[in-house]
Amino acid sequence: MVNPGDIERRREPLAPPIPLVIDCDPGIDDAVAIALAVASPEVDLLGLTTVAGNVSLARSTSNARALLDSFGRPDVPVVPGAERGLVRAKAPHADVHGPTGLGNGRLPMGEPVAAGEHAVQFLARVLAAAPPRSVTIAAIAPLTNLALLVALHPELLDRIRHLVVMGTSSGPGNMTPHAEYNTWADPEAAQRVLGEPAIPVCVVELQTTRHTTLTPRQLDELRGGSARGALLASMIDGYVDQGRGARPLHDVLVTAAIVAPDVIQTRPASVEIDTSTSEQRGRSTFGPERDAPAPLRVSTDLDLERFRRLTLDRVAAA
Ligand code: RIB
Ligand code: CA
Repeated sequence: MVNPGDIERRREPLAPPIPLVIDCDPGIDDAVAIALAVASPEVDLLGLTTVAGNVSLARSTSNARALLDSFGRPDVPVVPGAERGLVRAKAPHADVHGPTGLGNGRLPMGEPVAAGEHAVQFLARVLAAAPPRSVTIAAIAPLTNLALLVALHPELLDRIRHLVVMGTSSGPGNMTPHAEYNTWADPEAAQRVLGEPAIPVCVVELQTTRHTTLTPRQLDELRGGSARGALLASMIDGYVDQGRGARPLHDVLVTAAIVAPDVIQTRPASVEIDTSTSEQRGRSTFGPERDAPAPLRVSTDLDLERFRRLTLDRVAAA
């Protein structure tokens, strides 16, 4: 017996896909985060913007293009942005992601990325054409492009539905004992963006993302799932964060939190970033929620098995 209400419920239209731009520095975990976005019907990937970080801007950009072409999405634009930090140049993370930025992954070069529009111009164009609170931005790299957007286009910030950031650490860092890499690479940018009261920001911090590893059996499942899974597994094979054999897929938790928000738990907070030139540079200190139009939220926990299943079921099958 089918309850009439069930029939009505079945007629409920699926929610329209969330317009999404990913600001990235591929980067092995960036690559898996992009693969999860491409495999997720909950999002409409409008473009990748790139920034210097794990590798140079040129390499981040060519990696992003090659990844999308490999994932069957040559239609998604890649738009380069800042080639250095707002105030100080960044150091690459090559000892973690390898000389190509993609670990042991080998994939054909993508189409050349035409010079022209800057990432901030692309982001502004997308936001200007969007309704209020409609576009989600995933920031999985140093926040230089986002800081430039906030400074140049304050009038467009109300078009952002969520800015979901991989960065900061409420405990030890992975670049220095005090600082997480994305925050350390451009702390002035992080302070500007995470202190912006007009943007609904969710920070997915290192003490949550450091748990996002796959078991050896799951890595083999990824490797054997598809050609794309094998490519991503070969990238992860060549990825060593903090030199302890750990392979946390930090950035992937940002995409997972966008497509399945209850994969993480969060709390409202404020955050201050150390922008000094001391050994504390890039350190993040969390405080109580601030009175703001869009209070910042920070991750407090994750459903690791849900994260692993979501990631494997989608990127391995693709
Ligand atoms: O600390 C982790 C972050 O630094 C991730 O975005 C990873 O890609 C590296 O850039
Ligand atoms: Ca990254």
